[in-house]
Amino acid sequence: MANTDRTAISHVFRGTFIHATQKTAVQILEDALVGVDTEGKVAFIGKGDKLDTLSRTFGFSPREVTQLTQHEFFMPGMIDSHIHASQYSYAGTALDLPLLQWLSTYTFPVESRFKDLEFAKKVYTQVVKRTLRNGTTTACYFATIHTDASLLLGQIANEFGQRALVGKVCMDRNNSVKHYRETTQESQEETCRFIVELLNKKYPLVKPVVTPRFAPSCTGALLGQLGSIAKNNHLHIQSHVSENIEEVNLVKELFPESESYTDVYHKYNLLTDKTVLAHGCHLTDKELDLLRETGASLSHCPSSNFSLCSGVLNVRNVLNRKVKLGLGTDVAGGYSASMLDAVRRTLDASKVLTIQDPDHDTLTFEEVFRLATLGGSQALSLDDQTGNFVVGKDFDALRVNVAAPGAPIDLIQSEEPKILLEKFLNLGDDRNIVEVFVAGRRVVPFAEPVE
Ligand code: GUN
Ligand code: FE
Repeated sequence: MANTDRTAISHVFRGTFIHATQKTAVQILEDALVGVDTEGKVAFIGKGDKLDTLSRTFGFSPREVTQLTQHEFFMPGMIDSHIHASQYSYAGTALDLPLLQWLSTYTFPVESRFKDLEFAKKVYTQVVKRTLRNGTTTACYFATIHTDASLLLGQIANEFGQRALVGKVCMDRNNSVKHYRETTQESQEETCRFIVELLNKKYPLVKPVVTPRFAPSCTGALLGQLGSIAKNNHLHIQSHVSENIEEVNLVKELFPESESYTDVYHKYNLLTDKTVLAHGCHLTDKELDLLRETGASLSHCPSSNFSLCSGVLNVRNVLNRKVKLGLGTDVAGGYSASMLDAVRRTLDASKVLTIQDPDHDTLTFEEVFRLATLGGSQALSLDDQTGNFVVGKDFDALRVNVAAPGAPIDLIQSEEPKILLEKFLNLGDDRNIVEVFVAGRRVVPFAEPVE
């Protein structure tokens, strides 16, 4: 495979590459040679024994090839399809209340602090650095209602080289926290200002996303305005849906004219092929069908679903109904900012369903690997650019060393690449992720600051 109208090659790697395709959940390319061009795109994928031919065709020297060691492999960067950057400040705490009480007791008071740009800068820098180090090459972020702090999150993601969708949160009702409110008009105007200012920055990897927090936080008037803004500007949309039963009942009360929770978003033109909705634990099959018909996707956030006792999403059913699905950490409802945790909790959630019903078709680790990578890129409609190793896509990749010194994997019983992947997914952590690339740029380890 090769792209013939090419630009110059900037890196060539030789070793094991592991990724997912539509057909194969885990495809292993042993002794592969992968070239990345100066625009950060995969220029060729070949076999190691074709080094001479490829080096002549693409004009690089075989001496420039980076050889992976025996316990190393490359995999696509992981895609966190739902994370609240602003909630990183209290991640790992406050997990003792159900959703609606959790929001008013912990979340809204903390989010109100992002009016302070110094505080925002501190938290947003930490969350971008932590997620990059954990191997999240693309993150779909909720910020807060504050436009300037949300713009700062975009700036920080750009500086550290993370691919990001960033949303200024919109909410014009049902919030008891006095200093964390906006009117319908403010929410609509500030969303427009956020979009215009973020697009004007021309950050290559950062895009704005229209972000109604969830139906209970928004009037129909606001939802309608946000639907029009997204449609007129072909923008991404993110929100939450059907996470907990109390919330589903509240939506029925607030929107009695709608057939279902999902139908509320549909009515206001918020279901498009660039929409991602988090959770969906209690969706009916009819609602799943509406998601499929509109091209909208789900973000599965099992850590949060367990922590807030929200529900257990049946991912198998979602996949059988052909709804696009990615994984999300949902920090801070989920306590971990690592997609490896999302992978493990996804497997746990599937096994809980099998415990309840032995006929349940449990997800395999291979399928969950696909959801964390290609699935996430499809859910965010970024799969023309990222999600797996294909000539012409951006090189978003993790160099994993299963035997990295200090990392928590002591014994490796087999060199088989699939076993190395399984070990990493179940036992590994950021110490096993020795390098992270986004669009061909090495973003981890972090560049030393220029003095
Ligand atoms: N629903 C509305 N807002 C939120 C939030 O911040 N976290 C979670 N988990 N669910 C929500
Ligand atoms: Fe969330």
